Amino acid sequence: MAVVMETLPGFRDFYPTECAVRNALFAAWKEVARRFHFREFDSPILEPLELFTEKSGEEIIEQLFTFEDRGGRKVALRPETTPSLVRLIGTRAASLKKPIKWFNITENFRYERPQKGRLRSFYQFNVDIVGESSFSAEAELIALAIESFSLFGLSRQHFYIRLSDRQTWILWLRALGIGESSTQMSLLNILDKWERREKKDLEKDVSRCLPPAASVQEFFIRAEKLRQSNTLQDIRGCFDALNPNDALEEAVNQRLLIWEKLLEELDALQCGSFVRVDLGIVRGLAYYTGFVFEVFESDLNGRALAGGGRYDLLFEKLTGYALPAVGFAVGDVTLGDVLKKYHLLPKVTFPLDCFVVFENSTRKQALQDVGSLRQNGLSVTYVLGEGTVSKQFKKALEYNPNFILFYGSDELGNNQVQVKHVATRNVALIEREKLVNFVRNYAAGSKRE
Ligand code: HAM
Repeated sequence: MAVVMETLPGFRDFYPTECAVRNALFAAWKEVARRFHFREFDSPILEPLELFTEKSGEEIIEQLFTFEDRGGRKVALRPETTPSLVRLIGTRAASLKKPIKWFNITENFRYERPQKGRLRSFYQFNVDIVGESSFSAEAELIALAIESFSLFGLSRQHFYIRLSDRQTWILWLRALGIGESSTQMSLLNILDKWERREKKDLEKDVSRCLPPAASVQEFFIRAEKLRQSNTLQDIRGCFDALNPNDALEEAVNQRLLIWEKLLEELDALQCGSFVRVDLGIVRGLAYYTGFVFEVFESDLNGRALAGGGRYDLLFEKLTGYALPAVGFAVGDVTLGDVLKKYHLLPKVTFPLDCFVVFENSTRKQALQDVGSLRQNGLSVTYVLGEGTVSKQFKKALEYNPNFILFYGSDELGNNQVQVKHVATRNVALIEREKLVNFVRNYAAGSKRE
């Protein structure tokens, strides 16, 4: 039978070096979470299908990996973690101290067309604040997002954040006379795809949503103006042009005030220069209700490095317990591509403290010491099977250990081991009882340097 030698499209094998790089990304993400005082949680990789079909939005639902399990349940590999987080918190909402600041690192699955920056299996660093309705939660998360890229050495030249607001879009739709929420949602969906689709297809979709008398062309011109807005004055101008009634004008004023406060807070957190007001972002996930943002590489119009926003209604819809929430996720694929491009991928090493060489007659004592060294936290290896001393020494050098320990029968007769420090080539005879301390102290000293 032929052996299947390829992964499924959009899935990756991780060879040890790639695995070490991936672990370094995860370690950096955990470090950022620690700095911002977020706690880690976890949830199953396989979930009831309904968890996602209810609220994730069309695009994700079309991309689900689903099947029926042996008990006849419809299940899905998670395409994202937000609905699972909502279940975890919703179930214990009353007893959890607010605001709840949680993160996780998960493998996710989406049946997308594999392409640059997009795979069918990818990892995400998810970060959420639940139980806080103030804009300061958005500011805290945007600051965290910036830190999660800066930590690798990326700066303003490499990435920026596009900040938008679905509330502003909904107010604008209301000002156009589009008050029904399902129509508003359909139009937000179309606006989300604005940059990726042909104008004629967009026009067709828009005309299906607008009342028969409305002009699609006018909608396009006005929407384009709001999409291009990069300042709060630009946004206000888009509303003024529509002559909103007093109630709507008041709602717009309130919203612009919150925009202003958020931008001020971001400045105070030293994040202002990373953030661009950009109403071109709407986000494809259906549950977002307020500010939304995406992180992009500066000199490229490629896929987003990260994305998120406020989702104040999802808790009530899924769990019956109302809680405001805001969160985002960074993916490992686009981040890895950017780090590679700028030669900023974490350097990974596979350090070895000791390589042990022995004669047939000293094997037993040598292996006893291998055990003691390992129990004391040192990394140790030796040639498995049998080999001459010279072959073992040759092998030892391939591994570039800190020390080569040689168990010669003559030295062992005096209860001593020959210890060679590979970098300096210094050789010393050390008594067996002192071996662990000798190597350990040396290793600790070199870590401090
Ligand atoms: P999302 O925008 O769907 O948001 O994904 C966030 C990030 O995950 C993207 O910016 C991208 O880096 C990465 N990503 C998404 N799909 C793929 C793919 N097929 N291949 C590689 N990377 C991908 C969410 O998932 C939300 N649940 C984030 C969130 C958390 N919102 C609130 N809390």
